[in-house]
Amino acid sequence: MDETNLLMRIDGVTTNFHTYAGIVHAVDDMTITVPKDSVVGIVGESGSGKSVTMMSVMRLIPSPPGRIESGHVWFDGATLNMADYVQQEGPNRGMVDLLSLPPEEMMKVRGRHVSMIFQDPMVSLNPVLTIGLQMTESMVAHGIADNEEAWKRAIEMLALVSIPNPEERMRDYPHQYSGGMRQRVMIAMALSCSPELVIADEPTTSLDVTVQAQILELMKELKTKLKSSVIIISHDLSIVAGMADKVVVMYAGRVLEEADVYDLYEKPGHPYTMGLMKSVPRLDADDRERLVPIEGSPPDLLAPPAGCKFAPRCQYAMEICCKQEPPLITIGDGHRARCFLHHPAAPAVPGFVKVE
Ligand SMILES: Nc1ncnc2c1ncn2[C@@H]1O[C@H](COP(=O)(O)OP(=O)(O)O)[C@@H](O)[C@H]1O
Ligand SMILES: [Mg+2]
Repeated sequence: MDETNLLMRIDGVTTNFHTYAGIVHAVDDMTITVPKDSVVGIVGESGSGKSVTMMSVMRLIPSPPGRIESGHVWFDGATLNMADYVQQEGPNRGMVDLLSLPPEEMMKVRGRHVSMIFQDPMVSLNPVLTIGLQMTESMVAHGIADNEEAWKRAIEMLALVSIPNPEERMRDYPHQYSGGMRQRVMIAMALSCSPELVIADEPTTSLDVTVQAQILELMKELKTKLKSSVIIISHDLSIVAGMADKVVVMYAGRVLEEADVYDLYEKPGHPYTMGLMKSVPRLDADDRERLVPIEGSPPDLLAPPAGCKFAPRCQYAMEICCKQEPPLITIGDGHRARCFLHHPAAPAVPGFVKVE
């Protein structure tokens, strides 16, 4: 994957929620790169900060109580066509920081250049408007089509996501569609303005298993047909691994590991990733291999532990792990893990393979 030709770089984003109970440290110093024409998967247990990271990118964090405390979201400037905001110098030359754009410029980005598919289509669809009206709205608002063209394009998009009789279905209301069909409509909508980046946040979690598989198949198919990069988010490693080129493993608002999908499977570098793998079924597994859940639960983000956030659940935890947070250590080409066991001075531990 070409990590030098980036569409987006989430750079040190920290987002907190200032609640009556205290500060919820939802996302801490998050850095994720999205190469052009790639699928990046983000995986982690519920509550690990996946959605908050993406809502920060979209600048849709409810405030108060939420606040993006620091960081940048660099996006390819040539794509956005916003000459006034493009960095002229430095490592982010040619990029635009979405977090510093004036709100009216950010409105031009949402839906047009970056769009999102959410877990529950019923929340995102307006129950009292026809699908046709909702599908055409954003194309017209972004000025890429007039009413008539947008109507035609919406029918094409519905056909593309395999909605039968798309012309007639344009006049139906969301409740007249099944759950799977509504998610297809959401995908069609997300793609209608040909955005350069589509963020799919648990796109299949609310669907039953067969429909889930159909929607994932559809997304893969569309990925090859259309020219967008995709960020696919799931708590389920097998869903992410089936689609992504590169996987980012999140835990308690941090990146614990990132790697090419094959490297992650072949040589997981973080005990948490190893745990995730043992807890999902694998096609290549021995019949007798059991699925083992990771013991314990994620930390309280109001008062996260001082050292490694995973240390309280880690079978390999050393003294230092509870005192100091490990940095992301490079353990291969594009492969990094936030674990002291990869430190040159760390002792060899039985059962843990140090990646050279
Ligand atoms: N509006 C909010 N107020 C307070 N805490 C929030 C709010 N939204 C999210 N959080 C907290 O942020 C953390 C990360 O949440 P989220 O990004 O939704 O996790 P994920 O998507 O990985 O399941 C969770 O601990 C959650 O409770
Ligand atoms: Mg979420």
